[in-house]
Amino acid sequence: MLTRIAVLVSGGGTNLQALIDAQAAGRIPSGAIALVISNRKAAYALQRARNAGIETAVLSKYMRPDPDEYDAALLELLSAHGIDMLALAGFLGIIGPRVLAAYENRIVNIHPALIPSFCGLGYYGLRVHEAALARGVKVTGATAHLVNGEVDGGPILLQKAVEVKEGDTPETLQRRVMEEAEWELLPRAVRMISDQIARGRND
Ligand code: GAR
Repeated sequence: MLTRIAVLVSGGGTNLQALIDAQAAGRIPSGAIALVISNRKAAYALQRARNAGIETAVLSKYMRPDPDEYDAALLELLSAHGIDMLALAGFLGIIGPRVLAAYENRIVNIHPALIPSFCGLGYYGLRVHEAALARGVKVTGATAHLVNGEVDGGPILLQKAVEVKEGDTPETLQRRVMEEAEWELLPRAVRMISDQIARGRND
């Protein structure tokens, strides 16, 4: 039996694409991406999922403005699809306490900096790279980590450093961090947790 993976997205979905490609290349042998959930119905990531024949769902905070109700609705959706683990791939929503409790040590996030630098509330997407450039760091990178109740505070699984180059803009730096680090780390971290769940099933 394969580990059923849900990928949560909000935007362009290049990290989702990296997961889809890794699966197609046999690099996540213990798992299968069973569902892609977006909190924005316009997210291009949804199109990537459809192109790959993966089921999609939209759960936005306009549909469920109360965080507690959102949390409950997300858990219901995950349970209905028999999901074993989650991958947050550029997901900009907050995971509530019910989902956290049901999926303890089974939620992986990719963050576009070397945690504990440039992380926590307000540090997402391009803002992370703007902050890194403003501080003048010469090395940044990405971190794959487990998700707990603290924003970007869960145990670190993998990290990779990426050089900041003279003349970088937030956009060029974001692209290099994605290409050199995020797209490699997220599939590897998802495989680690998927393998662990599969081993637990066979014990
Ligand atoms: C990625 O750089 C991801 O690391 C970041 O948003 C981008 C999404 O791009 N996530 C965060 O900042 C979370 N704190 P994508 O939709 O193309 O994968």
